[in-house]
Amino acid sequence: MKKWYAVIGDPIAQSMSPSMHEAWFEENGMDATYIPIQVKSDRLREAVEGLKNLGCSGWNVTVPHKSAIIPFLNQLDPSAERMNAVNTVRVLEDGSLIGYNTDGNGFVRSLEEAYGTLCKGKKVLVIGAGGAARGIAFALQSAGYGPLFFTNRTLEKAEQLAADLTDSTALSMVEAELSLSGFGLVVQTTSVGMNYAQKGMPLNPENVYEGTIVADIIYNPLETEFLTEAHKRGANILNGVGMFVHQGALAFETWTDVRPRTEIMIEKITTTLGG
Ligand code: ATR
Repeated sequence: MKKWYAVIGDPIAQSMSPSMHEAWFEENGMDATYIPIQVKSDRLREAVEGLKNLGCSGWNVTVPHKSAIIPFLNQLDPSAERMNAVNTVRVLEDGSLIGYNTDGNGFVRSLEEAYGTLCKGKKVLVIGAGGAARGIAFALQSAGYGPLFFTNRTLEKAEQLAADLTDSTALSMVEAELSLSGFGLVVQTTSVGMNYAQKGMPLNPENVYEGTIVADIIYNPLETEFLTEAHKRGANILNGVGMFVHQGALAFETWTDVRPRTEIMIEKITTTLGG
């Protein structure tokens, strides 16, 4: 019987996940489909019951349900537990629901697909201290990157995050800007520079060192002002398309045990976004 998968969120119409997963199912000759479903926050419990009862094999979870869905799941993978957020649900044979979070590892895979392990052993600066920063930081550390440094508009949150990880330090924005040349990898995880959020840069990349990898998890626009300015100074840049594709690929693998092709998908999505 045809299997079906979904992504739930609100809003959801703009999601690029359905076309990505549909393409992977087709490419791999799988009889499956993937649909976007808009779920209002006050209907999340019913939606999860519905997905389960209607035989959904697995689904992705996006804003605003990533943490709210946790009470309705049976088990959390450590990736979701440490982030207190789920972006992928797998349904087991007996109907139990396991929550995963593939965002952090998606970032690491995207980094390594683009630049190998060039920045391993070098200092890493994470800008931001929200959910995305947390997931990326844990994944980077698990993959052997670090030492890690955090900077954030609200310094206390960076300090909290640094306290939750080993070998990590919080820096004020000014300290981070002044010491920028000492990092092998800089990862921008805030919403600053996103098309529909706010323009501008979270910090001044003036002191970035030539050859440093500067990543921004934003993919709309494809190149944030932060990346443009870092590029002008000789940095190797990476936008958020790769992380988006790889978090999806890891979800796909979780459900099907098949590793889908990512490079072509990154090109396709880049074109869709005007690149
Ligand atoms: P996400 O899950 O995308 O990480 P989040 O948990 O709400 O979202 O975290 C948002 C991050 O973007 C935070 O680090 C936030 O900084 P604060 O902790 O100071 O709020 C950062 N951020 C959002 N808007 C910002 C702005 N205008 N300037 C600087 N940082 C901003």
